[in-house]
Amino acid sequence: MAMEIGIDIGSSKTVIFSSSKVVLELPSIVTVDSESYEPYYYGEKAKQTLGRTPESFECVYPIKHGIIAEYDIAESMLKEYMTLAFGNRIVRPKIMATLPVGLTELQHHSLSNVVEAAGGRNVNVIESPLAIAFGLGLDFSKPHGYMVVDIGAGTTDIAVISMGGIAACESFKTASFDFDTQIMRYIRKEYNIEIGNLMAESIKKQIGTVVERPVEIAMVAKGRNVFTGLPESFEITSTEIYEAIKETADAICNCIRLVLSKTDPDLVADINRDGLYLAGGGSLIHGMDRLISEYTGTAVHMLEDPTHSVVRGAAVALRKPELLKHVNYQLRSIKELTITE
Ligand SMILES: Nc1ncnc2c1ncn2[C@@H]1O[C@H](COP(=O)(O)OP(=O)(O)OP(=O)(O)O)[C@@H](O)[C@H]1O
Ligand SMILES: [Mg+2]
Repeated sequence: MAMEIGIDIGSSKTVIFSSSKVVLELPSIVTVDSESYEPYYYGEKAKQTLGRTPESFECVYPIKHGIIAEYDIAESMLKEYMTLAFGNRIVRPKIMATLPVGLTELQHHSLSNVVEAAGGRNVNVIESPLAIAFGLGLDFSKPHGYMVVDIGAGTTDIAVISMGGIAACESFKTASFDFDTQIMRYIRKEYNIEIGNLMAESIKKQIGTVVERPVEIAMVAKGRNVFTGLPESFEITSTEIYEAIKETADAICNCIRLVLSKTDPDLVADINRDGLYLAGGGSLIHGMDRLISEYTGTAVHMLEDPTHSVVRGAAVALRKPELLKHVNYQLRSIKELTITE
């Protein structure tokens, strides 16, 4: 039987799914030689070099806002990850790779070319919200509107799906990375302390919130004083982080409202009745589901495993060619054995 593989090369991490499980999950980061651009570290090791590289090295995110920004680096990263996940055991793979909504034909090709160059065969691409809908097992046979929101690191993808097709959609460049940036800005302004990306992400995950918490929580963070240049520890509270990221959270909710305002009223009525489906790592920040519900007046269903729902759904889409036919996706013919030993 052909191997079915789902691949989600996100702005912050790459996830590979096969045989009903996640087989690889690593940061989409590569440390390269500044002059030759030769890759030096991939994944976790590369993430640890963020803000710590000497001049001769650079840390690169080859995917920006869900789109391939550094083609060669993305290709070598995916090649490395495919080898880590499967060694040389890929037999007749059937691959579904995911990407944001609303991209051009050329950007679709660019992604499938990268996956093919990294050793993939029979590569198909699908938009993230549609992949999520497949994973959820939504009924595509009826003209009924479903709204799916995927808040990632670099993009917020919003789509209204009906009869398996996309009725309205938008991909916004405001997402969870922006929370990190706002936290860094706030701390520099209020404390005159510079913190790194990893510290900002850790603060976001530990005490970040987009709604006021009934009980304030706090943590000790570390950075560098901009005047003395010396390391400094300081206490930061959830209320301060709420203030720092409020605008970004509101912007994301306004994006969802905008898509609703462009959607056919009958489909909006369906969404209002069922509630909307929320996924992506960015949705895990405390209170995001509640805030979206307040903005849209709609119930919000948070997916069980929100950081894997895209890749899981991509694999489901591969297994249901009859549904893909329904939504006008064409699976290419499966070539024989591709990579052996
Ligand atoms: N528990 C958490 N609380 C807050 N934020 C979180 C949590 N877990 C993950 N995140 C954030 O979610 C983001 C990653 O989400 P996800 O894996 O969906 O993004 P991605 O697919 O790589 O990006 P994109 O879809 O935008 O290309 C990161 O910015 C990460 O900091
Ligand atoms: Mg994503």
